[in-house]
Amino acid sequence: MTVVAPITVRSAQGNYQVQFVDDVRDVAGAIGAVDNLRAVIDERVARLHEAPLGALAATVPMLALRATEELKTLDGVNGVVLHLQGSDATKKTTLACIGGGILQDTAAFSAAIYYRGIPWLFAPTTLLSMCDSCIGAKCGINLGRFKNQLGTFHSPSRVIVCVRFLDTLSEADIQSGYGEILKLALTGSAEHFRRLKERVLRDGLRGSSLVSLVRDSLEIKRTIIEADEYEADLRRVLNYGHTFGHSLEALTQNAVPHGTAVAWGLDLVNFIAFKRGLLAEDLFRDVHDFVVSQFRCRVPHAIDAKRLVEGVRRDKKAAEGHVNLVMLEKPGSLKIVRTPFDASLESHVAEYLEHHNALAVA
Ligand SMILES: NC(=O)c1ccc[n+]([C@@H]2O[C@H](COP(=O)([O-])OP(=O)(O)OC[C@H]3O[C@@H](n4cnc5c(N)ncnc54)[C@H](O)[C@@H]3O)[C@@H](O)[C@H]2O)c1
Ligand SMILES: [Zn+2]
Repeated sequence: MTVVAPITVRSAQGNYQVQFVDDVRDVAGAIGAVDNLRAVIDERVARLHEAPLGALAATVPMLALRATEELKTLDGVNGVVLHLQGSDATKKTTLACIGGGILQDTAAFSAAIYYRGIPWLFAPTTLLSMCDSCIGAKCGINLGRFKNQLGTFHSPSRVIVCVRFLDTLSEADIQSGYGEILKLALTGSAEHFRRLKERVLRDGLRGSSLVSLVRDSLEIKRTIIEADEYEADLRRVLNYGHTFGHSLEALTQNAVPHGTAVAWGLDLVNFIAFKRGLLAEDLFRDVHDFVVSQFRCRVPHAIDAKRLVEGVRRDKKAAEGHVNLVMLEKPGSLKIVRTPFDASLESHVAEYLEHHNALAVA
């Protein structure tokens, strides 16, 4: 395997490194070498990768958890901090997390509050967590019916990426990861978007170029979060595709995976940008064709424009009769557009659903 250069992320909470390893055994070895360790692991990952991870489970107090949105709650966090307390974790303990975004959010939030903060390290096991969420320090848990309502910033002390974990990941979750890869490529530059299309067409979604797509995505995100770690301004562009994406996730009770909803949400907001004269039609069509060809998902029921816009109104980023939509002008150039909840917004959404909807309705 080719050696993939590590990435160092500068953070006000302490710089940290993302390293790339070839084999799940290397992940176990790197984590096992850390002193005073406790761990949480996605129980499915523990089962599917039992052979390479078994030795670690035998030596480190490890809690296996089921990755559902119910885990990402105060109850789920309670279970993790009780695991820390019950295994005599101290202020100097490091909490290792092996899993996807659900485990990440739960573990990072727990590490942020146990004894007012202990270090945590992360081995992401889903494509979405490898290419996007593993850096940036954000962690959010759900409150009542609403997602990511409680949260903080707690950067990891280290991230260890091994794409071999993806051998066991479902097609739907691979596709979901590509939603964030697409978002970051369009945020990066025309060249990033061109490379993404070329590699996917040549190698497929699981091809050998995946590790370099993951690394490219993290590099793009790194430059943004280093400039604006606490989302004062620039970092808001990372919400590209997320406003309508979140609304779709909520309307379908998460039947559409997060990253797939983001790909769809950016296609919809591109259409709105095109209708408002911000984005050229050929660029809208170029991205749209990619979304249609790579993101297959059946939305369980017809979604109408009114309910989608209503969902956006409830978004925590909406306020006083308007929402800040992140719109593409061209790859590498995004603009935050203050958009009122008016008839024109709803009619553009309705037009998109009627003539251009990238996801099939079951
Ligand atoms: N903190 C952040 O910055 C951030 C960013 C984006 C998303 N998120 C959150 O991440 C969550 C979604 O995370 P996700 O998409 O990474 O997945 P996930 O953690 O929801 O896992 C998806 C499914 O894949 C399984 N799985 C995980 N790794 C596997 C593997 N290697 N092989 C087989 N199965 C595996 C899990 O058990 C689960 O069933 C959402 O709750 C979202 O809000 C957080
Ligand atoms: Zn996202």
